[in-house]
Amino acid sequence: MAEEFDVIVIGAGPGGYVAAIRAAQNGLKVACVESRETLGGTCLNVGCIPSKALLHASELYAHAADGSLAKFGVETAGVKLNLNAMLDEKLAAVKGLTDGIAFLFKKNKVTWLKGRARFTGKSTVDVGGTAYTAKSIVIATGSSVTPLPGVEIDQKVVVDSTGALSLPKVPKHLVVIGGGVIGLELGSVWMRLGAKVTVVEYLDQILPGMDGDVRKDMARLLKKQGMEFRTSTKVTGVKVAKGTAAVTVEPAAGGTAETLEADAVLVSIGRRPNTEGLDLDKAGVVPNARGQIEVGHKFETAVDGIYAIGDVTPGPMLAHKAEDEGLAVADFLAGRVGYVNHDVIPAVVYTMPEAASVGKTEEELKAAGVAVNVGKFPFAGNSRAKTNRDTDGFVKVIADAATDRVLGVHIVGSLAGTMIAQAAQAMEFGASSEDIALTCHAHPTHSEALKEAAMAVEGKAIHV
Ligand code: FAD
Ligand code: NAI
Repeated sequence: MAEEFDVIVIGAGPGGYVAAIRAAQNGLKVACVESRETLGGTCLNVGCIPSKALLHASELYAHAADGSLAKFGVETAGVKLNLNAMLDEKLAAVKGLTDGIAFLFKKNKVTWLKGRARFTGKSTVDVGGTAYTAKSIVIATGSSVTPLPGVEIDQKVVVDSTGALSLPKVPKHLVVIGGGVIGLELGSVWMRLGAKVTVVEYLDQILPGMDGDVRKDMARLLKKQGMEFRTSTKVTGVKVAKGTAAVTVEPAAGGTAETLEADAVLVSIGRRPNTEGLDLDKAGVVPNARGQIEVGHKFETAVDGIYAIGDVTPGPMLAHKAEDEGLAVADFLAGRVGYVNHDVIPAVVYTMPEAASVGKTEEELKAAGVAVNVGKFPFAGNSRAKTNRDTDGFVKVIADAATDRVLGVHIVGSLAGTMIAQAAQAMEFGASSEDIALTCHAHPTHSEALKEAAMAVEGKAIHV
């Protein structure tokens, strides 16, 4: 007889592990299947956490090494990079967090089934030759790197994001294919450590999907830091010989090809959902044309008793989206009401400065014919940013012209990723720009720039 659970969650990333823990908190008997050696999925093992560890460490190094601390009276000399120590520190951060999830599983009595799950029926899965059944099965298998046809990832010279988190030495020239989030974040890491970085982007601008002002300012600021951009350009092939890559590029619209020599190439052109090997057909689940599993508002698939959350479903591929869906599906499974507002999911690019966004972009609203008022405030007018000498960037608040309801907030700034939470909360509460403008913000903080941008919607910011 197969062991029976109330819920089996497949995948222990931020979607799956959160769903499993919340379902157990809700009194259900829960198992979570994970094939990695450690819990936490892409995010904790090879995604959010190790990349942020390296972004933090490389920023400390860059500040210490480039002499920019001298104006604060901090003089550094003989600063040396110990890359092995930096990579070890990253691994320690990852281990601390992945071990933490194992502890939380034990604490909440979630059974970790180690191995790969595949469906053998609508309510049965096989893990390493053993059958398990459940009333409800949640697919939270996440995503993996989209390959670029004709470009072989060897994880030595041509790497994906996982390889780029562990390069054994700083490349002289790193070519990044794809000017999206991964390309800019990991490109920043290696640029700060001394690499020349060239980003090849197919579209005419980096960071597709973000607000136009953010895209423009980020390109300008990263260029100022030394990052080179080849936009409207496509890679047609990469040839590796003796540890060197010859990257052939040509204009996206076609034209004369040229070759870029590099000692490392990062392929970061997007991610695709993980459904291979799940034997979804045995359960009757059919992915859409993009390989995603479509769900309804309770995260239910077209098959009774089977649910899906996180990167394997449509929508932004973000850890916090997956987590919130994990909480919501576990509440639905316990007969409660789960809630995720997919219109208010913040997105952050953790470069320096950071770029953060929530709600609609000005371009999306224009295309939809919505009349808006826009308030913009530069950090150059914010006293704390001026004092800290980190005045790059701005806050932009977009409000409905008829109702003043905030429809989008977009920030470029050193603390943009933290500041965007306030904007998301305001939007979740249906705030107007006037509500934000009338909220008392502590002085001196970067957050005052959000208040001023809200005041600018009416044309009445003070410090510009
Ligand atoms: P995943 O985290 O991908 O987890 C799915 C898990 O399922 C995996 O561990 C996998 O081994 C397991 N699995 C798959 N199939 C099976 C099977 N058949 N049986 C058993 N187990 C299986 N997002 C952010 O919000 N902020 C960031 O800063 C950020 N940084 C990132 C940096 C990088 C370099 C990358 C690659 C991604 C980053 N992301 C970030 C995206 C984030 O990692 C994902 O959105 C998030 O991990 C999705 O969670 P998930 O639970 O849907 O899937
Ligand atoms: P992405 O979708 O952010 O960017 C891919 C870029 O590659 C796009 O600009 C696209 O136009 C370009 N591109 C596509 N094909 C190309 C080609 N053939 N040649 C040149 N350019 C090409 O994908 P990325 O950066 O790989 O990240 C994957 C996902 O991981 C993102 O969707 C994001 O949600 C998630 N992520 C989130 C992070 C965060 O929240 N801070 C950090 C890292 C990843």
